[in-house]
Amino acid sequence: MSSIEEKLAQLSQATLDSLKAISENKQEDLQDLQELRVSVLGKKGSLTEILKGMKDVSAEMRPIIGKHVNEARDVLTKAFEETAQFLEEKRVEAQLAKESLDVTLPGRKLARGSRHILSQTSQEIEDMFIGMGYQVVDGFEVESDFYNFERMNLPKDHPARDMQDTFYITEEILMRTHTSPVQARAMDAHDFSKGPLKMISPGRVFRRDTDDATHSHQFHQIEGLVVGSDISMADLTGTLELVIKKMFGEERSIRLRPSYFPFTEPSVEVDVSCFKCGGQGCNVCKQTGWIEILGAGMVHPHVLEMSGIDSQKYSGFAFGLGQERIAMLRYGINDIRGFYQGDLRFSEQFK
Ligand code: PHE
Repeated sequence: MSSIEEKLAQLSQATLDSLKAISENKQEDLQDLQELRVSVLGKKGSLTEILKGMKDVSAEMRPIIGKHVNEARDVLTKAFEETAQFLEEKRVEAQLAKESLDVTLPGRKLARGSRHILSQTSQEIEDMFIGMGYQVVDGFEVESDFYNFERMNLPKDHPARDMQDTFYITEEILMRTHTSPVQARAMDAHDFSKGPLKMISPGRVFRRDTDDATHSHQFHQIEGLVVGSDISMADLTGTLELVIKKMFGEERSIRLRPSYFPFTEPSVEVDVSCFKCGGQGCNVCKQTGWIEILGAGMVHPHVLEMSGIDSQKYSGFAFGLGQERIAMLRYGINDIRGFYQGDLRFSEQFK
């Protein structure tokens, strides 16, 4: 045996012995292993040192000894890997043995989101009407003067336009002031030979208003419209009574007061009997016993005609309610700005 091979055998044996010792000690520290590895296989390690002797080996022996050196390196490399893995497994085992799980600890609460109170209100009202066979129609927040005003019987010089000043994109394009233009669009699209039109349309509307506790330059309405043959004021009253009782309690009654809207005739303001005092008078109903809740009326024949509907044959009712107003009354909210500020202390009350 050449001296190189002797040294190689010694080194291999010594290294394998050390590895065995490390494994048996089950040392958790992988540091020792790493140091040993560098001292044997590293650039300045023992194996490299032995290789330096190759220069004295005869040409015919060189391939044979070279092969042995390579084999020894492979064996040692593998032994190091196995030992490292073994130690790692032991380390994990030890760690797991130390750790324990206390299933009685209280869990961490996840913050759950919920629908905004206006969405809840709108959803609830939509559900009621869907239950009565209405379809829910979407309108445009950016509308034309034509649909927002003219088709609602408010020609250019009509004084009632003053109450609904708004934001104009151009002279003819504006931010809609109410959801009523959806009435005209829905009537235009409906085929009355197939039956009556029954629709509601919730959405955002805009007005030139100074924001305060009860006014906002944008707010939400729900429009309602039924057009068909033999639709009367009694249908309007019955429908609204049903819905208002569902929202404010079965003991409530409603009352209609004459009012004016250019697109309905006759027009009414609908009040609900005060849900706080039951009608005797209190601060909620301003001592009147009644709370104004929405505007409504029979669709003006001219509005029907503008949609190409024969007003002798068909009639209809319409109503428009403010979502904020409904929510404020139901939940005793006294500042409309709460809806829009995104303050969780406000929103979380309605989860
Ligand atoms: N569009 C009216 C408003 O915003 C409400 C309304 C709708 C009244 C439908 C009557 C019929 O004030």
